[in-house]
Amino acid sequence: MTTPLLAVDDLHVAFRTRRGPARVVNGLSFELHPGRTLAVVGESGSGKSVSSLALLGLLPGTADVRGSAIFDGDELIGRSEEDLRKVRGAGIGMVFQDPMTSLNPVLTIERQIGEALRAHEKVSGDGVRSRAAELLTEVGIPDATTRLRAYPHQLSGGMRQRVMIAIALAGNPKVLIADEATTALDVTVQAQIIELIEKLQDEHGMGVVWITHDLGVVAGIADHVVVMYAGRCVEEGAVDELFGRPAHPYTRGLLGALPVVDDPRPARERDELVTMPGLPPDPADLPPGCAFHPRCPVRADARCATEPPPLAPVPGSAAEHRAASFYVAGGERA
Ligand SMILES: Nc1ncnc2c1ncn2[C@@H]1O[C@H](COP(=O)(O)OP(=O)(O)O)[C@@H](O)[C@H]1O
Ligand SMILES: [Mg+2]
Repeated sequence: MTTPLLAVDDLHVAFRTRRGPARVVNGLSFELHPGRTLAVVGESGSGKSVSSLALLGLLPGTADVRGSAIFDGDELIGRSEEDLRKVRGAGIGMVFQDPMTSLNPVLTIERQIGEALRAHEKVSGDGVRSRAAELLTEVGIPDATTRLRAYPHQLSGGMRQRVMIAIALAGNPKVLIADEATTALDVTVQAQIIELIEKLQDEHGMGVVWITHDLGVVAGIADHVVVMYAGRCVEEGAVDELFGRPAHPYTRGLLGALPVVDDPRPARERDELVTMPGLPPDPADLPPGCAFHPRCPVRADARCATEPPPLAPVPGSAAEHRAASFYVAGGERA
């Protein structure tokens, strides 16, 4: 096994709110290896975005962050803003769903890619323009020199997302975090962007963290999957193993909600992962024991309501397939 590019260990994030601490991330751990794709899935509100923002120091001052995240040998948690600024872009590139880090509407594409280039590479003047054009071509934007003069509103949603990827890649990062990067796009553009990221990943050896609530895309792109619920990993494993033999009642519920693969409707109109009855818990009022027990269709007994189940190997599965439930598929765990 290679040394992980990114090793997150027991990450906790709580926001100070008037209602008391909102415990949004509650002991998340995962590893990302070079050239691999890790998918982080879970319903909206499960803490996927907050976790990645915490790694990069992008949360507001009301957030208390604990735990460890070793990137390329160095601890990220607790580092200064100056240090983290160097990590962002050149070490870890990010692509978010609009509008979270949407493009600046009043600057040309050239200016925006140029800023990213100047921040990370020692290029200036004409070097910036030609490297920016190269990046646009690399992300599949035709007629790059013309497009460089365009403003964001002059481009389609798919093109803007490609520009975001070009900006994320400007620093030649070792890790790319794609947070719902294709969720707002139609399925054809989504497929093109996924293909593009895979190609760049092969060429650059990047590790990719692919965050999504759309399980439909995960099977095709991920090597390893982490399923989040209420800020914890409740199940993880190699993609075939996890889809083939889901063990946690929550994962089995999510897989029941898988959208049809050739569904022509845009992603946002397809079924999202909400067909499971009930709602995720309020992070300011987490239930004791297993956070999933109030919704669990399998069994919720006195133990589930008092004792948090540890993330432990699934009996009879590959070692890296782990689930946090006293009632994994195939029988009770001792
Ligand atoms: N700045 C904040 N202050 C308080 N709560 C927040 C803040 N940002 C996010 N949250 C809460 O954290 C939870 C997880 O959010 P998020 O990580 O965005 O979920 P998702 O899994 O959909 O990406 C949600 O309940 C959200 O309301
Ligand atoms: Mg999110």
